[in-house]
Amino acid sequence: MGKYRNVRYLDFCKTFFLNKREKYVMKKKLLITREIPEAGITVLRERYEVVVYEKETPLKKEALIKMASGCDGILTLLTDKIDAEIIEALPTLKGIANYAVGFDNIDINSATKRGIAVSNTPGVLTDATADLTIALIFAVARRVVEADQFTRTGKWKGWGPTQFLGADVRGATIGIVGLGKIGTAVANLAHGIGMKVVYFNRGENSDIESSLNAQQLPLEELLSTADFVTLHVPLTKETEHLMGEKEFKTMKETAYLINTSRGKVVDEGALVTALKENIIAGAGLDVYEEEPKINPGLLKLDNVVLLPHIASATTTARTKMAVMAAENLVAILEGENIPNLVNPDFRKNLK
Ligand code: GLV
Ligand code: GLV
Repeated sequence: MGKYRNVRYLDFCKTFFLNKREKYVMKKKLLITREIPEAGITVLRERYEVVVYEKETPLKKEALIKMASGCDGILTLLTDKIDAEIIEALPTLKGIANYAVGFDNIDINSATKRGIAVSNTPGVLTDATADLTIALIFAVARRVVEADQFTRTGKWKGWGPTQFLGADVRGATIGIVGLGKIGTAVANLAHGIGMKVVYFNRGENSDIESSLNAQQLPLEELLSTADFVTLHVPLTKETEHLMGEKEFKTMKETAYLINTSRGKVVDEGALVTALKENIIAGAGLDVYEEEPKINPGLLKLDNVVLLPHIASATTTARTKMAVMAAENLVAILEGENIPNLVNPDFRKNLK
């Protein structure tokens, strides 16, 4: 009897809460599409009825629609493709909080038309991403992964004067494509390790120009000048395949491409050709066109380092992202000022 009553009471608590006017109101329902760091889940569980999808692979479209049906908000990952069809199928949805700085996985137009707010997590993963960019630069220049493989597989027969010669980082020119928060953080680190900084960006950044002695260049000139070309643009229609055959041919034969932005910014087929035919010297990649698929051509090459999209993967960054995404979702659902709103126009279509 007691037990039965408790269960009923707990159920009741899960669905209702006492609002400020001491009235019981229905708790809003949320879906989190993957297990994110606990700190973020806690923020949401304190207020809402929260379902977390706990498997290791992304939800398929049908399953996502089913799990999110009746939800007021969803917390999504960059691996969830939230297209027009999903948005249409979820009439109760008011907010989508993406657990990423990039939001190319969400059909923003459809969300805006339906009066759904979308948010991202900028800033908190800037340093982690910039650090990994520098890690990739050193890894490809000094052949770290290739050398590790060599050691591990018992091929090392002793120190050699010309073994594993690589490229210098100090004194080399880094060409930063896209000078947002991450590009700027990369510029600062690169300057700190003695690289010359050039950048391509729509706007000019006079702070960087004076503090780092950085120079803004047209893309073509950047490509033909830089020893390391690193991409920090969001994926949009304009940046899709920004780097293709022509761009690789413009780069120096001794230059490296680093990509920690989005895979589709690079034409992966053209990159394989450029690497195979020594049109460029190498590449360090964290992202791919069709993740988690990787062009088989890349897997066969020694002059490329391949990481599984881990640029923001530090405990600090991922925890902050979780809390930020959760707080964005709370702000959306409570009608408060949304800290990291990406589609302010959603308000025009609020019903
Ligand atoms: C990671 O790729 C992100 O956009 O946060
Ligand atoms: C990310 O926060 C960026 O603007 O690059």
